[in-house]
Amino acid sequence: MYLTKEEEKMYDGEEGPAVAKCMEILVALGNIYKVEKLVDITSAQISGVSYKTIGDAGLEFVEELARDAHVRVPSTLNPAGVDLKTWRELGFSEEFTRKQLKIVEAYQKMGISTTCTCTPYLVGNVPVFGSHIAWSESSAVCYANSVLGARTNREGGPGALAAAICGKTAEYGYHLDEARKACLLVEVDADIKNSDYGALGYLVGRKVGDGVPYFKLQNLPSTDELKWLGAALASSGAVALYHVEGVTPEYRTALNGEVEHVSIERSEIDEARQKLSTTDKKPDLVCLGCPHSSLEDLRKIAEFVVDKKIKNQLWVCTSISVKAAADRMGYTQVIENAGGKIVCDTCMVVAPIEELGFDVVGVDSAKAANYVPNMCGMDVVFNDFQKLIEFE
Ligand code: F3S
Repeated sequence: MYLTKEEEKMYDGEEGPAVAKCMEILVALGNIYKVEKLVDITSAQISGVSYKTIGDAGLEFVEELARDAHVRVPSTLNPAGVDLKTWRELGFSEEFTRKQLKIVEAYQKMGISTTCTCTPYLVGNVPVFGSHIAWSESSAVCYANSVLGARTNREGGPGALAAAICGKTAEYGYHLDEARKACLLVEVDADIKNSDYGALGYLVGRKVGDGVPYFKLQNLPSTDELKWLGAALASSGAVALYHVEGVTPEYRTALNGEVEHVSIERSEIDEARQKLSTTDKKPDLVCLGCPHSSLEDLRKIAEFVVDKKIKNQLWVCTSISVKAAADRMGYTQVIENAGGKIVCDTCMVVAPIEELGFDVVGVDSAKAANYVPNMCGMDVVFNDFQKLIEFE
C-alpha cells in the first residue's frame, strides 16, 4: 500500500508509539482489502465501549493507547454499559461500573467526546455529503452512508479508533463510487409506519446480506423511521448503505443497469413483526431508544404517557445531549411522573440488563429484538411502544 512521506513517518514511530500502532492497524486492514492508499477523514465514531462487550482486554488496550494518543478529527463514542450518572439507581453493580468508568475516561483522555451514543448525528457529529469518515456503530454507519451521503465502511472499534488517531482510513469499499450502487430493488406494496420500518429492514437485511438495497416506498419516511430501517438492515444483514427513491441523497445514481427485483407485501411485514418476538408473555421492562431516541421520539412517548401511571418498567435510552433538550421541553418530567426513566449513555443491548432481574423485554426496534435474546439471554416482545407500555 502506498504511504505518503507523512504517513511513513507516522508508521515508523516518529509521532510516538501509539500513532505507530494505529498506523500498523490501518496498514494491516489496507493489506487485507488490497487497498492502494489511505484517505483523510473528517469524523470518527468509535464502538467498543461497553465493558460488557470489550472486557478487561479492551480496557487494557484503550488505557495503553490513552497514554500518548490523541484524536485528530472530531470523534464521538458509542454507548457504554451503564448510565454514567444514574447507574446506581438503575441497579448496575459497582464493580462493573468502576471498570466502565475507566474505559470512558481513557477515551476521554484521547479527546473523544464521551456523549456515548449510537446516534452521533443527533448530537453534532454530522459529516457533510461526500466526506470520508470512519464510523463503527453499524446503525450509525447505515445512517451516515444512506441519509447523510457521507462515506464509511463498517469499521471495527479498533479500526475506527486507529483512524481517529491517525486522521485517516483505508480507501476501499464504501469510500469508492462502485460500492455505492444498489444490487436489489425492493418495492414495498404496503402503507408502513413506525416500527414497520424495523420489520422491513429485518426482512430485507436477511435477503440482501452485505449488499445495497434500493427501496421504492409508498410513504415518505421520517428521519427516525430511516434510523430504524438502517439499524435493522445492519443487524439482520450486514448492510452499510441503502437508498430510498426520492428521499436519500444518492438514489439518482444508485441504479446501474438491471438489478434483482423483489416486492414486499403487508403480509410479509406482519410475518416479520411476529418473528421478531420470542414470547407471548407481557414485558416487565419496556426499553425504547434503539438506536438512541431523538427529541421527537421523546415527545411522542411523553404525549402518550402524560397523566398516566405506567405498570411495567419503562426505560427510554438516549444521549445526555438529547435528554438535556427533553428536560427543557418538559418531556423528561412527564415521562418520570408516569413512572418511566430516561436512561443516558447506554442501551438494552450493551448494558448488563440480564443482571437486573427482568424476564421479558419489550422493544419497538427490530435491531434490539434481534440482539437482546443473544446478548442478554432474555425473551423479547417486538411492537409499537404504545402496545408495549401498560398502564395501571
Ligand atoms: Fe444503539 Fe444499542 Fe441499538 S448501541 S443501535 S441502542 S443496540
